Amino acid sequence: MPHPTDNPRQSINATPRANTVDGPVVRCVDVHKSYKGQGERVQALRGVDLQIDEPGYYAIMGQSGSGKSTLLHLLSALDPPDSGEIFVGGQPIHSLSEREATEYRRTQIGIVFQQFNLIPTLTAVENVELPGVLAGKPPAEIRARAMELLDLLGLPARASHRPDALSGGEQQRVAIARALLFKPPVVFADEPTGNLDSANAELLWKLLGDIAKEQRTTIVMVTHEPAAAAHCQSVFIVRDGQICGEIRTEGLDAAGVASRYQQLVGSA
Ligand SMILES: Nc1ncnc2c1ncn2[C@@H]1O[C@H](COP(=O)(O)OP(=O)(O)OP(=O)(O)O)[C@@H](O)[C@H]1O
Ligand SMILES: [Mg+2]
Repeated sequence: MPHPTDNPRQSINATPRANTVDGPVVRCVDVHKSYKGQGERVQALRGVDLQIDEPGYYAIMGQSGSGKSTLLHLLSALDPPDSGEIFVGGQPIHSLSEREATEYRRTQIGIVFQQFNLIPTLTAVENVELPGVLAGKPPAEIRARAMELLDLLGLPARASHRPDALSGGEQQRVAIARALLFKPPVVFADEPTGNLDSANAELLWKLLGDIAKEQRTTIVMVTHEPAAAAHCQSVFIVRDGQICGEIRTEGLDAAGVASRYQQLVGSA
């Protein structure tokens, strides 16, 4: 497999775009994952089949412990599946070496967590630039891209602030800008608004939808909030380690999504 950043001075823009590949953006086939805990082995995923055909904004919902974070970990190549196949942008993720997985995470996807994970001693713009600095990309190009992203996320005036001088919502927007530095075709977000108040959460859900459209990026967001899922075009429901249904949200508000969700998870 080619390594897009083997030449460290290669431009940010030279990264191959997986969304130019024909075929599904994300595809999981019969994915299983178990963990050895303190006692019994836990079956976190029990045969996940998932296909996202078009770039866009998608949600994953399900009860606590149903396997949502595990699925996002596997899609992000943070962990390998026990069995099954995973393709992101046509690239097989289930069989990557550790080096390939690191390269994939660094250049082909963005990852956003509930915790913002910013470096406290760096300013907002330096936090956004960090993956580019670590990859040895040209500094002027990284700075221009980082400022463009802070602008897109409504934070140009906050570029020189350190995280402790930013609100929670602002910190998460910096983390999202950092995830977008390499123009990844896919961003995975695990409860990105879990630490935010409802006004900031609402702003972020809308912003992620705008980013998906404007940057032609697919965003896959785990959420517990029907109001978040209503911003997405489709919601995949996880129950007991499997995808048990999909809600297409066109014409549905948050209450409509909540009601369809209850029908799907409640029919266990
Ligand atoms: N590293 C691990 N070691 C052992 N068990 C784990 C590990 N990670 C997850 N599990 C177990 O796998 C199952 C699925 O966990 P997962 O974190 O994917 O759930 P989730 O749907 O994200 O839940 P939540 O909504 O609470 O975040 C749970 O039973 C959990 O306890
Ligand atoms: Mg989780």
